[in-house]
Amino acid sequence: MNSGEPAVAIDNLVKRFGDFVAVDHVFCRVDRGEIFGFLGPNGAGKSTTIRILCGLLTPTEGEARVDGLDVGREPEKVRQRIGYMSQKFSLYDDLTVEENIDFFSGVYGVPADKAAGRKDYALRISGLEARRRTMTRLLPGGWKQRLALGCAVLHEPPILFLDEPTSGVDPIARRGFWDLIYEFAAGGQTVFVTTHYMQEAEYCHRLALMNQGRIIALGPPNDLKRERGLGSMEEVFVAAIEAEEARDQ
Ligand SMILES: Nc1ncnc2c1ncn2[C@@H]1O[C@H](COP(=O)(O)OP(=O)(O)OP(=O)(O)O)[C@@H](O)[C@H]1O
Ligand SMILES: [Mg+2]
Repeated sequence: MNSGEPAVAIDNLVKRFGDFVAVDHVFCRVDRGEIFGFLGPNGAGKSTTIRILCGLLTPTEGEARVDGLDVGREPEKVRQRIGYMSQKFSLYDDLTVEENIDFFSGVYGVPADKAAGRKDYALRISGLEARRRTMTRLLPGGWKQRLALGCAVLHEPPILFLDEPTSGVDPIARRGFWDLIYEFAAGGQTVFVTTHYMQEAEYCHRLALMNQGRIIALGPPNDLKRERGLGSMEEVFVAAIEAEEARDQ
């Protein structure tokens, strides 16, 4: 672990697709062990930023470092240091629970002498010990997402990127999912998570609110509310975006 460095350091990051600016001069730092939330309307640039941080997209301008590694220059090394749950369901529906775990264990290069232990861990945290031979497509949505999370942490990555991990998941399963996120953070892992659920935004240590590629508010949820004299994250979200739109006009 490059422990002298922040988990994530983003400096003046820009991503353009042709003339369109999806990520517009973003700066931010995420500390180790922090649960950092990314909020913002559809199309704000959250997934694009995460894909850059995971070494899957190259920045157009600026710099992003993950675990001290430059994502533009060393994307392969970055991918070994992170776990990633993409916004779209990332497992194989036509494999069993156990086959998915074995497959991702191979992809992430889990050493042979650790593979059985890590598989037990993934089954335990996803609550799927009794359903290891169930076809993944037959699992309810919330269980699938827990399995995807179990697969994303097989190689014990210090930093996790979770892009809308609980989208479409019922409130009880969501709560269980967040219990795991807290467990990871308590163990020193950094969690960078996007969500459209305001309740989940409240669970984060710090939040960045993104709109049209820019970070328009940043801080702990309680500070963001207090600064504006507002009672809920939903009100903060709406007020910050309306203020931004008024300024643009
Ligand atoms: N490969 C691409 N080529 C062109 N435009 C893209 C590409 N990927 C993303 N975009 C555009 O960039 C903008 C930001 O998309 P992104 O997926 O990052 O948003 P998001 O904040 O994750 O939204 P959502 O909440 O809907 O997931 C969108 O307008 C999208 O259409
Ligand atoms: Mg997205």
